[in-house]
Amino acid sequence: MKKWWHEAIGYQIYPKSFQDTNGDGIGDLRGIIQHLDDLVDLGINVLWLSPINQSPMVDHGYDISDYYQVDPVFGSNEDLQELIQQADSRGIKILLDLVINHTSDQHPWFQEALSDPTGPAAQRYIIRHGQDGPPNNWRSIFGGSAWTRIPETDLYYLHLFTKNQPDLNWENPTLRQELYGMVRYWLDQGLGGFRIDAISHIKKDWQYENMPPDSDGLVNGFEYFRNVAGIEAFLDELAENTFRLYDSFTIAEMDDIQQERLAEFIGDQGYFSTVFDFFHTKFYIRQERYAKDPLGFVEELKEELFQRQAYVADQGFMTNFIENHDKIRSPGKFIPKAYINEYSKRLLAVCYFFLRGIPVIYQGQEIGMEDYPKESIHDYLDLATHNMYQEFLDKGMSAEDALFWVNLECRENSRTPMQWDATEQAGFTTGEPWFAVNPNYLEISYAQQRKGNSLLAFYKKVVALRKNEQYRETWIYGQLIPQFEEVKGCIAYTRESEAQRLWVIANCTPQEMRLPLSAPRVVLLNNYEQLDQGTELRLRPGQAIVLEEER
Ligand code: BGC
Repeated sequence: MKKWWHEAIGYQIYPKSFQDTNGDGIGDLRGIIQHLDDLVDLGINVLWLSPINQSPMVDHGYDISDYYQVDPVFGSNEDLQELIQQADSRGIKILLDLVINHTSDQHPWFQEALSDPTGPAAQRYIIRHGQDGPPNNWRSIFGGSAWTRIPETDLYYLHLFTKNQPDLNWENPTLRQELYGMVRYWLDQGLGGFRIDAISHIKKDWQYENMPPDSDGLVNGFEYFRNVAGIEAFLDELAENTFRLYDSFTIAEMDDIQQERLAEFIGDQGYFSTVFDFFHTKFYIRQERYAKDPLGFVEELKEELFQRQAYVADQGFMTNFIENHDKIRSPGKFIPKAYINEYSKRLLAVCYFFLRGIPVIYQGQEIGMEDYPKESIHDYLDLATHNMYQEFLDKGMSAEDALFWVNLECRENSRTPMQWDATEQAGFTTGEPWFAVNPNYLEISYAQQRKGNSLLAFYKKVVALRKNEQYRETWIYGQLIPQFEEVKGCIAYTRESEAQRLWVIANCTPQEMRLPLSAPRVVLLNNYEQLDQGTELRLRPGQAIVLEEER
């Protein structure tokens, strides 16, 4: 069955870093309203906001202390209402970030639990007795023990993320109803839906035994707290009481779903509309490893990419992305340093935007923002990043090496403020930004790219082509067939429907590439000015194109 969101072209905003309008150095909702026309110009129709609820911001909003209030640093509930309406009038649906695996430790529910940890209110959290230490040796996803002791007791609460993010106890039916009520409240405000945070962790498989530890005495217990059997019942109940009652669009942060069960999660009757496809997140171009064999990287990536597309096939839609607030920027991730340029950034856009699935752009990706390595660990603010650094030190790395790896891999890289123009602080704020602006804003900014043949202009073309009525059905519902798989460094596929065959071809090598594709085709998109089509197709280094073939 066709749904409105099949046509979604998403854009993720990390509100803290998007646009500040009141000079406090932190982005806000009015800043988003101010740029709605830019987003319309880009062509997107779904806007996902990382959390904007009231929060002590230990995890920059992923620690919510009041589900019903907008945090004052972002504005008010009225501002959000205005944003929803203004966006709606421009054909854009808003998705909020639904963080329901955990709350903040400042949430009144948790405060209540702390004051009477064995009482009924404490049943909202996962609180267990320890014996000479935490109940077990699970490591938190952000490092350190996943348990923190409640002062003056032998009780511990579980937190899969920071100790300020206690996990909710989904086994508690009253709590579940409280959460569903809150979700319905927001859907009633006219939202398009949600991006759903860390939802694969809501079911735990209790192991009170310590498992064989790593050198720090802890262990990654993912098999006990990710996609654990029984989670289906929670997800189904959640969907039944909330999303399915509305014509909503939901993107879940959920990985590792077995192929044969995919339809249960994202099909027409799925718990969610779609889930992010995280397959590529483990790929990083490593200069030293790939210096001698850069094409090896492309080949590995390509193989997995096509496997994933075949895995989903027509069972539903995954959500395709190359950047988000938890990963480094895509140029540093996928492109060898020497080749990071305007062509290769365009190539990345071409490669992923026409895959089967819902494309999402992360703020700043459309102007080619890059990572900003720091000179000191103290320039980072994120707790997970600091824990990562500490783990490197604990493993015996020098401070210099640890910082080198943090700079390469840490998630805060993508959280630098949006580079709007070449004025001070990149036009992000008139105050002191909460996180330093990348000094390359003088070369990379939105204002500069509004005109001419810029990356931004190219992204607009990409989006326009993806939405073009003539091709839309094929892009959305057409089959994906890998092409020229044997050609090293070539990522190519066709999208096919009865009426059309659309070719997406990228030469990911620094050499010219010749492909046996003879009949001239209509060029729909090209990251170079020219294309040599004759008896064969000749692609320049890093050239990426989209062609149409009439059937
Ligand atoms: C979010 C992270 C966040 C974590 C805990 C995620 O997967 O994307 O940014 O820190 O959940 O809420």
